[in-house]
Amino acid sequence: MAEDTPTTDDDGGRPGAFDHLFTPAVRDGLGEAGYGSWRAIDAPDAVSLSFGFPFPESFPNDELAAAAEAVFEAEGGAAMQYGGGEYADRLAEAIAERERDRGIDCDAGNVLLTNGATHAIDVVAHAFLDRGDHVFVEAPTFMGTLKLFANYGVEVAGFETDDEGLDVGAVAAELESRTAEGRPLPKLLYTIPTFQNPTGTTLSRDRRERLLDLAEEYDFVVVEDDAYGDLRYGGDDVAPLKALDETGRVVRVGTFSKTVAPGVRTGWILGDDEPLDTVGRIRAGGTNTFTQSVLGYYCTEGGFEGNVAELRAAYEKRRDHILACLDDHMPEAAEWTDPDGGFFVWVELPEGIDAEELLPRAADEGVTYLPGEMFFPDDRGENGLRLSFSYVSLDEMERGIEALARATRSALRERRPR
Ligand SMILES: Cc1ncc(COP(=O)(O)O)c(C=O)c1O
Repeated sequence: MAEDTPTTDDDGGRPGAFDHLFTPAVRDGLGEAGYGSWRAIDAPDAVSLSFGFPFPESFPNDELAAAAEAVFEAEGGAAMQYGGGEYADRLAEAIAERERDRGIDCDAGNVLLTNGATHAIDVVAHAFLDRGDHVFVEAPTFMGTLKLFANYGVEVAGFETDDEGLDVGAVAAELESRTAEGRPLPKLLYTIPTFQNPTGTTLSRDRRERLLDLAEEYDFVVVEDDAYGDLRYGGDDVAPLKALDETGRVVRVGTFSKTVAPGVRTGWILGDDEPLDTVGRIRAGGTNTFTQSVLGYYCTEGGFEGNVAELRAAYEKRRDHILACLDDHMPEAAEWTDPDGGFFVWVELPEGIDAEELLPRAADEGVTYLPGEMFFPDDRGENGLRLSFSYVSLDEMERGIEALARATRSALRERRPR
């Protein structure tokens, strides 16, 4: 074995037999935890505030069963064929109509259906990114996208967020200094501007406009991941980046994972004709046209909008409840965000408490969460953690926050004076 042949711990330390055949970017990642590793926190009796899953009763099982039946009746085998039938086409039209309602100038031709938002981001990354390219993200950001970028061997720089979202001023300063020093500029900036995962914050209108000006000035593409945009429980609507985009630099990503169910594995990329035509050419293989047909029926004739309204009401209650529990139980030195929508609250623990180190103690007390570090492209975030209010019941949520508060207080008592 050559000395520089990489090894992996995934199989007990034995080097993988095919390591030399994998791409350099994949080999580099073999020592790291793989995609989905954040799901493997082993505390079955603890309340899970880790999972960004929709609560199971939210799934419209009966409506989807009825939609499938209606599709078979109307289309027979066409829905099962490569390319799908009429209802699959209607889905792209329904998505475009909803996007137009948000102020985006588009039609069905601007919608490229995918097998979920992650697939959409992967297709965009595949179209634009080479090993060594540079990408900007919010820090913290969605860990699934960080893992995905790692597959491409790109250099990811993370920019802080505050209660108005991404610090666009810091992005501008970095672009300026890279230009002055002749350092590489990003090809893509990936952002979740609305109800961000993991912080729940929303990028202000002014910052959105400034970001688009920067994209034009420094020639990069903005990937707008709007996975949670339908789930607003407070505050005023802010125009999507794509609605403010006059130059076609925004590629927008959406999904039915949060408004229907993750299992339907259906999302989309919305873009101007170019770059979308080129991105569409490299999207290899088909997408799930049968599910698209079912969703095409569900979205146009099967009750989707009413269901989303019910989801908003249900999640609003959950958001209110977790914030009230945090207020009631957490020590004063902790801080947390106040999201207008989405699934998440970001907590900053009292100074000197590491969220990763606290996790086993929190699990013993009866709660799990995701430690902040996994949302950063670098080694920041040890003080933060993500709580999801989407999955567990209100009672479990209260028990979970009480357990988190107990664990935090006991860590505070042990904290060495500085
Ligand atoms: C911001 C963000 N983007 C994308 C996804 C994944 O979406 P999908 O299930 O459609 O791949 C998630 C969900 O966890 C998310 O939080």
